[in-house]
Amino acid sequence: MSPKIYAAISGAGHYAPEKVLTNADLERMVDTSDEWIRTRTGIRERRIAAEGECTSDMGAEAARRALANAGLAAEDVEAVYVATCTPDMVFPSTACLIQAAIGAGRAYGYDLSAACSGFLMALDAAAAAIESGRIRTALVIGAEKLSTVTDWTSRDTCVLFGDGAGAVVLTASDRPGIRSNYLGVDGNQADILYIPAGGCKRPPSEETIRQHQHFIHMAGRETFKIAVNTMLGAAQEAIRRAGLQESDIDWMIFHQANWRIIDAVAKRLGDGSADRAIMNLDRYGNTSAASIPLALSEAVADGRIQSGHKVLMVAFGGGLTWGGTVVEWI
Ligand code: ACO
Repeated sequence: MSPKIYAAISGAGHYAPEKVLTNADLERMVDTSDEWIRTRTGIRERRIAAEGECTSDMGAEAARRALANAGLAAEDVEAVYVATCTPDMVFPSTACLIQAAIGAGRAYGYDLSAACSGFLMALDAAAAAIESGRIRTALVIGAEKLSTVTDWTSRDTCVLFGDGAGAVVLTASDRPGIRSNYLGVDGNQADILYIPAGGCKRPPSEETIRQHQHFIHMAGRETFKIAVNTMLGAAQEAIRRAGLQESDIDWMIFHQANWRIIDAVAKRLGDGSADRAIMNLDRYGNTSAASIPLALSEAVADGRIQSGHKVLMVAFGGGLTWGGTVVEWI
């Protein structure tokens, strides 16, 4: 019998656009305050892509950096998975554009839409392809240009979002790097967090533009409550499926939407402190599918995540969608 093939992350990279939009800048755009934004969300600033800088550009740069971190070349990549809800175009997919931009001539690829949970869903698909033996090397990218779907006249949402990208290289391994995956959706609650127009249900028209229907709409308070309970459940299930205890986890990376959500969930896991939670939402805001790989890549780059560490990643977003994954850093 041939030995079992596992999937493991062998490199991570991220990219954040240069332009910084601070809370003070937002105070000049809508009726808000730095104090409100910091205390209610934890966000101090976010990055905004330059005009003409697209999701594929940010994703390609994160991918190049992840490949360099893994010590691999673009020709080694056999599949490109891109999680995004802000693709450059309806089609071709952002994955095709990134495949061309980085020169991954052997790779197939596609986009995956699961809002803020997209990265963990894409990681699951890539891991399954590697574990089945069909491919040995994949790029998994979360990239978003949320500034294009943010209503800059609405203080309810415009203070929350930012642009950026994160990527990992997933490779075949004789040791289990991806220790568990737990994914879920609930389409019954699709309308608490969504972009109403732009698809075939409400194609773009003067009216949809006038009514700001191409922007993110969110019932914030309702989303908040569901997020806390769902993320806690996803975290516990992912740890259980990995055959671990909560105390075995070295680092927790939650989708960076709100520090109060992260704090509440982290404190209910294990020793009652949020010390193991990696946070960067103060500098980037909510970057949807990019938020988890961006935080992961930063923590790898600054040496917090070390070989042998067990890292819990937990996502929650529009759909509703959610996921929990435990990885062991090989
Ligand atoms: N500045 C000042 N005041 C504001 C602002 C603002 N930017 N936004 C709202 N307020 C006001 C409201 O109008 C309200 O005033 P009122 O009491 O007079 O009516 C008050 O502040 C409180 O509003 P709430 O909505 O109750 O504020 P809350 O504490 O819930 O915080 C927030 C809002 C930050 C949006 C929070 O609900 C949240 O983080 N929700 C979850 C977000 C999330 O997890 N999303 C999932 C992923 S995102 C994705 O999938 C794309």
